[in-house]
Amino acid sequence: MEEKLMRIQRDVLLQIEQVDNMKDLENIRVQVLGKKGELTSLLRTMGSLSFEERPLIGKIANEVREIINQKIEEAKSSISIKQQELDLINEKIDVTIPGNFIALGHRHPLMQVKRRLEDLFLSMGFDVVEGPEIDTVGNNFDDLNAPEDHPSRDKTDTFYITENLLLRTQTSPVQIRTMKSRKPPIRIVSAGRTFRFDDVDDTHSPMFHQMECLVVDKGVTMANLKDSIDKFVKVLFGENMKTRFRPHNFPFTEPSAEVDVSCLKCMGTGCDACNFTGWSMELLGCGMVHPNVLRNCGIDPDVYSGYAFGMGIDRVTMVKYGLSDIRLLFDNDIRFLEQF
Ligand code: DAH
Repeated sequence: MEEKLMRIQRDVLLQIEQVDNMKDLENIRVQVLGKKGELTSLLRTMGSLSFEERPLIGKIANEVREIINQKIEEAKSSISIKQQELDLINEKIDVTIPGNFIALGHRHPLMQVKRRLEDLFLSMGFDVVEGPEIDTVGNNFDDLNAPEDHPSRDKTDTFYITENLLLRTQTSPVQIRTMKSRKPPIRIVSAGRTFRFDDVDDTHSPMFHQMECLVVDKGVTMANLKDSIDKFVKVLFGENMKTRFRPHNFPFTEPSAEVDVSCLKCMGTGCDACNFTGWSMELLGCGMVHPNVLRNCGIDPDVYSGYAFGMGIDRVTMVKYGLSDIRLLFDNDIRFLEQF
């Protein structure tokens, strides 16, 4: 038995010397000292020893266990010191290695155009005001002089939230809000999201963007309207850009017009992009504020007059960048957005 104990001690110490990681060390410990370990099993057979031998062998067995335990502890601390040293070496930071490139995003092309337009109008003396995306039927239709049976009021055209609340179909309700809260002279623009029950195609989206402009003062005429539009179109698209005013009908303006700009691709000579008309798609609707609208907001149409226009920011963006599909602006494909 004593011999067996000595052999166990010798073998185990040898194994411990060769071990270089905690996991193997723990395995050795379990193999010898664990419940089913070699030493434990051997000690269980002590009952078969003679009465005199038992204390002697017991003492030796305890010594062997002590020695093994001690060696294991020593090995543990030397392994952990080595591990620490290794960690330190591995964690060393080479400050001379070039850093990782972190790609910075930028504003969406639509928001770039929106900002550009706001800056432009600010520089022309306009205030930039905000309006809510959810508005009342009163602001979006009634006070804007939309007749009771106007098709745009239909539930198949407009997203109603309640009888009286809707997702604004245009930025024009900001006109009403402004005229009810400010006294003339008024010069404001307001840009934001608008919503219509439209099927998606290359020029339509149920959510799109508009910028509204409103000027109310004494003696404002259609000439002022035409002049402002001509000016900002030239700043936005270049001096060669021409505008075309086509008669139109809006409930809130009289007279009303729609405005086209020269096709950016051919600058008016005619090409496949503009169906050889020389004009790109309609950019905005405009007109002289209808006397009823002024009256609805408590402004006397005999004293004041005004002009207004509402412009599709998505359209402006498409014309500016020569895009043929509005969906590009909403797909959020990084490969597209990175180009702006
Ligand atoms: N709100 C009109 C639309 O969404 C655009 C518009 C036309 C706005 C004429 C105006 C305006 O302010 O005077 O189609």
